[in-house]
Amino acid sequence: MSESPPPPGERPGPRRLPGDLSKDELIRRILRVDQAGEYGAVRIYEGQLAVLGNKPVGSVIREMAAVEREHLQTFNALLPRHRVRPTLLHPVWHVAGFALGAGTALLGARAAMACTAAVEEVIDDHYAKQVAALGDDEPELRDLCERYRQDEVEHRETSLDHGAEQAPGYRVLTGVIKAGSRAAIWLSERI
Ligand SMILES: [Fe+2]
Ligand SMILES: [Fe+2]
Repeated sequence: MSESPPPPGERPGPRRLPGDLSKDELIRRILRVDQAGEYGAVRIYEGQLAVLGNKPVGSVIREMAAVEREHLQTFNALLPRHRVRPTLLHPVWHVAGFALGAGTALLGARAAMACTAAVEEVIDDHYAKQVAALGDDEPELRDLCERYRQDEVEHRETSLDHGAEQAPGYRVLTGVIKAGSRAAIWLSERI
């Protein structure tokens, strides 16, 4: 059985699936969403520290916040270098991040840790997908995402070590936060 020729106007050669992004689009999207995510992370920890800064758990949160600020600074520098504008949702993440951090902290230190566990689980997965998508084409950015992914995994482990799973309503709380984090990622990639 012979294959029918391609329809007129369709060029032979490797084809992109409709959902595929060009390499430049992929990099722009990655830089924009990662800068937004790290900004959100800084704001979550700022919210937590506003409530728990003077509590014993404050020093643990401060250490994680310092790492997030480093992550953010890296992406802040990369955006203009690649001529990528930040997400238009910055003002939303400014408020929502702080509110999420402060809100969970008001429920107690363990709820704050549950928030970190939930967010970092989503971010681990998010960075892992980026690492896979970048492959060997963009080794520098890929390795950066992998290094940061490992930092986020460490934060998740720290939160579990500090009783995240003992937070009241852990499953519901983390389920809601994970859904919200995934929605924030989806939006920041596109807007
Ligand atoms: Fe981070
Ligand atoms: Fe983190």
